[in-house]
Amino acid sequence: MMLKQQVQPAVGNGGRWPVVERGQPLHDSRAFRRCLGRYPTGVTVVTARHGDNLVGMTVNSFASVSLDPPLILWSIRRESKQVEAYKNAEHFAVNMLAQDQMQVSQWFGRGLPEKFELVSWEAGLGGAPLIHGAVAQLECARVSVQEAGDHLILIGEVKQYAHFDGKPLTFSNGEYVMTQGLPGEQTASPN
Ligand SMILES: Cc1cc2nc3c(=O)[nH]c(=O)nc-3n(C[C@H](O)[C@H](O)[C@H](O)COP(=O)(O)O)c2cc1C
Repeated sequence: MMLKQQVQPAVGNGGRWPVVERGQPLHDSRAFRRCLGRYPTGVTVVTARHGDNLVGMTVNSFASVSLDPPLILWSIRRESKQVEAYKNAEHFAVNMLAQDQMQVSQWFGRGLPEKFELVSWEAGLGGAPLIHGAVAQLECARVSVQEAGDHLILIGEVKQYAHFDGKPLTFSNGEYVMTQGLPGEQTASPN
């Protein structure tokens, strides 16, 4: 007789911290999102031009993928009003926001129609807006669009980059936070 496979409850972490929530993602997607939110990220605004149409949205699903070739990814909700433009534009730009650009994140995160009039920017590769004041900008050619559940994963090849001497905006537990170095021994970055 086949035994029905049971999903085991997640094991504890040795009693170091009290558990806040545990469960299975499909039972409570908001709680699952709170768990994912424990992973801090930077905040980017990904922009593109498709025809006469400029698109831009706040994105924290950005990740670096490969150095050779230089690939990065981000994911977009399939229901986004802007999804067709990103799927069809041949280029996009990733603008990594600075600590003093929380409002920019909010404007582009709420999809304000006048968002591009509220920031200063210049056109990069393919006309994708490069937002002034960002700590880094990646100008990318879109190389692949992968379906992944209720999102699409866009992979871009970085054609040109720039980074500037500011501090990045970070996002953790559903709120904007500042990061600072820990005292003591520092781990060297991999190279
Ligand atoms: C900090 C932050 C991170 C976000 N990250 C993403 C993301 O990675 N992918 C995504 O599709 N939407 C993300 N959003 C939501 C989009 O920015 C938002 O849905 C979009 O700007 C609204 O326009 P739309 O109706 O065209 O989707 C994020 C919002 C915030 C505030």
